[in-house]
Amino acid sequence: MKRVRLGLIGCGVVGSGVLRVLSDRGGVIGDMQMEPVRIAVKHLSRPRPSYVPREKLTDDWRSVCLADDVDVVVEVMGGVDVAHEVVRTAIRAGKPVVTANKALMAARGLELRALARDHGVSLRYEASVLGGVPVIHTLQTYFRVNRVTALRGIVNGTSNYILTRMTHEGASFADALAEAQALGYAEPDPTSDVEGHDAYFKLQVLLQVLGVDTEPLRNEVLAPALGARPADARPAAYLAAPREGISHVRPDDVLRARSRGEKLKHVATARWREDGVVEAFVRVESVPPSDPLFGIDGVENALAITGDVVGTVTLTGPGAGALPTASAVLEDVVQLVEVPHAGNAGVEDELEWRVNTSRR
Ligand code: HSE
Repeated sequence: MKRVRLGLIGCGVVGSGVLRVLSDRGGVIGDMQMEPVRIAVKHLSRPRPSYVPREKLTDDWRSVCLADDVDVVVEVMGGVDVAHEVVRTAIRAGKPVVTANKALMAARGLELRALARDHGVSLRYEASVLGGVPVIHTLQTYFRVNRVTALRGIVNGTSNYILTRMTHEGASFADALAEAQALGYAEPDPTSDVEGHDAYFKLQVLLQVLGVDTEPLRNEVLAPALGARPADARPAAYLAAPREGISHVRPDDVLRARSRGEKLKHVATARWREDGVVEAFVRVESVPPSDPLFGIDGVENALAITGDVVGTVTLTGPGAGALPTASAVLEDVVQLVEVPHAGNAGVEDELEWRVNTSRR
């Protein structure tokens, strides 16, 4: 049995979920024996569940990234700046990294993937988008024959949970949000969920996987400002409408949609235009029963991927919460141990493009 020693950076909802799965399985995952050998946390004295091995806790993340006895670094701390430093430190130390951090990957994904490639290590981030649903793996390993022409999905579990509770049970926004927080779906600062930032980060990560330049999205540049696109330019995504969250949705809005037999859903969309430009937006839509997103309720997420040959393929499943996200993190660990560089596959062209462009 192959022994895999994990260094966890962070022990919140996702990190605890990973430790719980490992504890329940006695560390046995397939033909691997996975062991959390070091766990970096911010607050050493905070009370923790029994499956968190307290003797492995440290408040020094750097020592975890650099430790000889750590085979894989798992970044589940969230945030951008420190997490960026963590992932860079681990990669530079030659450690493969698994991260669940969409804000980090949206802001720094391209750079970190290039760094991982330069150091010959794997960087995997399946858990950063749609929790337990393998959308990144699917986009990286499938859709080679097809040209993707659209992505459309419900990618934030918290806002979908809130809208579902408001629609079906008449819950208030505040109560539904408090429930989503108690269930471990919401971000530490739920503003990110209810103002659409989280969905917007996830859309950016998905577009990067497909080799689209998301720099204009980072700056929230609206499409009309686009101008002519050089023929040899890499496809770039632009915001087609201002980013919208769900915090302004009132019970009356939900009821009006219901009276038409529809439901309000928070939908992230990317559409490839004829000229190759990608229009992206995140907004509240009133969807009819014929829409594949109509039946996606609660913490369920869905992503409809349209390819020019296959048509539309929709992946659905649990998009947030400790265990679904831990599942994606551990699947990534298995993948990178079995196929060390698979996490960087499917982005080579994109990275080449970037390197060549920066040399021009
Ligand atoms: N806060 C996120 C959500 C967690 O609600 O979808 C999963 O990324």
